Amino acid sequence: MSLLQMFASTEQRSFIEDEVDSLLEEMTLEEKVGQLNQLNGTDQTGPAVEDMDLEAEIRAGHVGSVLNVDGFETRKRYQELAVEESRLGIPLLFGFDVIHGYRTIFPIPLGETASWDPDVAEAAARVAASETAAAGIHWTFGPPVDVTRDARWGRAMETSGEDPYLASEFATARVCGFQGDDLRAKDTVLSCAKHYAAYGDVKAGREYNTVDISESTLRDFHLPPFKAAVDAGVGTLMNAFTTYDGVPAGASTHLLRDILKDEWGFEGFVVSDWNSFREFIYHGVAGDEHDAAKLAIEAGSDMDMVGHIFATALADLVRAGDVNETLVDEAVRRVLRTKFLLGLFDDPYRYFDEERRSAVIQAAAHHETARDAARKSIVLLKNEKDILPLSNRGEIAVVGDLADDGNDAIGDWRARGRPQDAITVRDGIESAADSSTTVRFAQGYERPGTVTDELRDEAIETVTDADVAIVAVGETWELSGEASARSDITLPGDQRDLLEELVATETPVVAILTNGRPLAIPWMDENIPAILETWFLGTQAGNAIADVLFGEYNPSGNLPISFPRAVGQVPIQYNQLPTGRPLERAEPGWGTSYLDTPNDPLYAFGHGLSYTQFEYSDLELNPNQISPGETVTASVIVENTGTRPGEEVIQLYTHDVVANRSRPEKELSAFEKVRLEPGERRKVTLFIEPDSLAFWTTDEEIAVEPGEFEVLVGRSSDDIRETGVFEVQE
Ligand code: NOJ
Repeated sequence: MSLLQMFASTEQRSFIEDEVDSLLEEMTLEEKVGQLNQLNGTDQTGPAVEDMDLEAEIRAGHVGSVLNVDGFETRKRYQELAVEESRLGIPLLFGFDVIHGYRTIFPIPLGETASWDPDVAEAAARVAASETAAAGIHWTFGPPVDVTRDARWGRAMETSGEDPYLASEFATARVCGFQGDDLRAKDTVLSCAKHYAAYGDVKAGREYNTVDISESTLRDFHLPPFKAAVDAGVGTLMNAFTTYDGVPAGASTHLLRDILKDEWGFEGFVVSDWNSFREFIYHGVAGDEHDAAKLAIEAGSDMDMVGHIFATALADLVRAGDVNETLVDEAVRRVLRTKFLLGLFDDPYRYFDEERRSAVIQAAAHHETARDAARKSIVLLKNEKDILPLSNRGEIAVVGDLADDGNDAIGDWRARGRPQDAITVRDGIESAADSSTTVRFAQGYERPGTVTDELRDEAIETVTDADVAIVAVGETWELSGEASARSDITLPGDQRDLLEELVATETPVVAILTNGRPLAIPWMDENIPAILETWFLGTQAGNAIADVLFGEYNPSGNLPISFPRAVGQVPIQYNQLPTGRPLERAEPGWGTSYLDTPNDPLYAFGHGLSYTQFEYSDLELNPNQISPGETVTASVIVENTGTRPGEEVIQLYTHDVVANRSRPEKELSAFEKVRLEPGERRKVTLFIEPDSLAFWTTDEEIAVEPGEFEVLVGRSSDDIRETGVFEVQE
C-alpha cells in the first residue's frame, strides 16, 4: 500500500493535496526552498558544517526540519518560532537517529535480526517510537535497511545482515513498529529507510568508499528491503553517501526517479545524508554548489541535510531558468504532505506533553520488552559437552572489561540511551546468582584489548580456583558503527593471548562475544568449549545474558550474516552465485578455492544452537507445479527430541536450477520460528511466495522464470535436513 493510502482516507487525501496547493501558491521561492532545508541542532553526527543562526533562519521561514536538537524545551521553542513567528507558520519536523531505541536501548539491528523474529523488531520499534514521540521528536532516521556481505564495514551493526529476504521482513516490521497504523498518533513517528542504495557494498568494507556493482546485484540484493519499506508505507528515505554506477546516490535519477518514484510509486520524500549534496563536488560530478543543487533536485532528492546547498543555490537556479520551478514544487509538496499526515498542521505541539514524557520514557514495560528482545537475539555458536546452561552454584569467575561497562551493553547509535542505565554482564550474573554461588570479577584487559602483567595475573588467579570462567571478549562499542571500518576483524589487542592463558588454567571457559560485525575467531572455535554471540544487546544486556547462561531462557538466535574464518574470505555470503569450477566437481587443483583456507565460513548464515535438539521429517510441497504468480505451500514435521522447551527457526531455501542469469546456490525464501515442548512434534507450514523466487532477469524485469526449483529446509544454510523440488510452468 502507498503512504497516502495507508495513512489518509480518500477525503483526507484530497483535503491535503488542496491545502498543499494553496500553500504553494502563497509561498515565495525562498519559503519553498526553506521547506527543503534541514539544519542541525546540537549533536554532531557528521563532520563540522557552517554555523547558522538557527533561530533567525526558522523565523525567516528558511527551515523545514531540524535534526539533533537536544532538549524537549528547545524543540518546543523552535516549534513556537516556526509556527508563531515565521510568515506562514509552517511547523518544523524534528528528526533524530533512533536506531535501536531512544532511552530504553534494544539490541543493535544486526543482533535483533538474529532473533529471526520480526515481531521482536516490531515491538522494539514501537517502544522506541513511543519514547521518541514523547520527547517531542517526529521523525527517526531509521530503520537502516542496507544489506551487507562485508564484515569489515563498521555499519554492518546497523543492518539486518547479508540476506535480502530476511532484511526485507525486518524492514517491514521496523517501519510498521515506528509508524504504527496512524502517523498522527502521539506514540508513533515517521520512519526513514536508509541509505538508498547499496551503501553496504562499499569496496573492501572501507567506509564511504566507492560502490561498483551490477544492476542485478542492485536489484536482487540491495533494493528488496527498500521496496519492502515502501510497500509498508515508509514516509521517507535517506540517500546513501556512495555512488551507484559512478553517480552519487543523491544525484542518481536512475535510483530516485526511475526506480523509487516512478516504478515503486513512492509518495513520501527523500532526505540527503549529512552534507552529501556538497560531497558531489568531492566525488567530481559537480563543479560547485549550484551544480550540486541542480543535480540533486533533478535526480529526485527532496531535502538537504545540513549541506545548505539548496538554500544557497536553488532559488538562483530557478530564477536563471536552469531548474524548473515545478521540480521545487514537487519536492515541497512531498515535505508538506508529510507534515499534514503527521497532523502537525492541526496541532504543531501535539508531541509536547510533559506528563506523557515522564510516564513513557523508560517505562518499566519497556525494559521487559528490551529484555525479551535481547535474550532472543543471543546466538549460541558452540556448546561442547553441553557445558551450558550453567548450574547456579559454586564459584564463577567473570573476566573482561567488556563485561563491566554499560557503554558496551548499549553499543553505538544509542540515541539518548545512558550507559549508567544499562545492566552489564557482570551486573546480570551477580543479580542472577543464588546464595550458593560466588561471583568474582577481574578486568582482564584495558580497552580495547591491552593485557598488562598485572591484569593477566589477576585474571589467572581469579579463574584458577573457579568452577567456570565467563570471559567477555570482542569489540568495545567504539569499534562498530559509522566510520568504524576494520581491516583486521580478529579479537582486538591481546584478548586472544589472555584467553589462551585462561584456557591453560583448565577451568572451563565460556566466551561471551560482544561485537557489531562478524569476527574471525577460528582459534576460539577450536579451543573454547562454549561461545555465546551477544552483539550489543542494549539496556537489558546483562540480564538477558544471565538468562541464557543459567538456562532461564533457551537460546534461539541464528546468525543473519556469515562469520568468516579469515578476513581474506570477505566478502563471504551464503547466497553466492555458483562458479564454472565448483570445488566439489572439479579436478583436484582446478576448483574455486584458496590455498590456505577452506571456502566455507566458520559459522554459516542461519547457524545457531539450542539447549535442546530438533529433528525434521516429511517435507511436502503443494502444489509441486505452479504458474509464475502462484505460491507453493511447504510443510515439514519438526520435533523437539531433547529435554527442554525450545524455539526453532525453520529455514527454507530455494535454488532456481536453470535461469537466464546465474542464480544463487541457495536463497532464503521463507522461515518460521516455533516453540516446541520436549517431545512435541508439529507440522509447520511455510509459504514460498512468487516475490521470493523472482529476480532481475536478462530481460531487465523482476520476474519468476519457469523451470525447476529445488527446496532445501533445515536448521541453517549449512545444515539442511529435508529437500524437495517443484516446477514453475510456462
Ligand atoms: C550520517 C549517517 O550516515 C546517517 O545514517 C544519519 O542518519 C545522519 N548522519 C544523521 O545523523
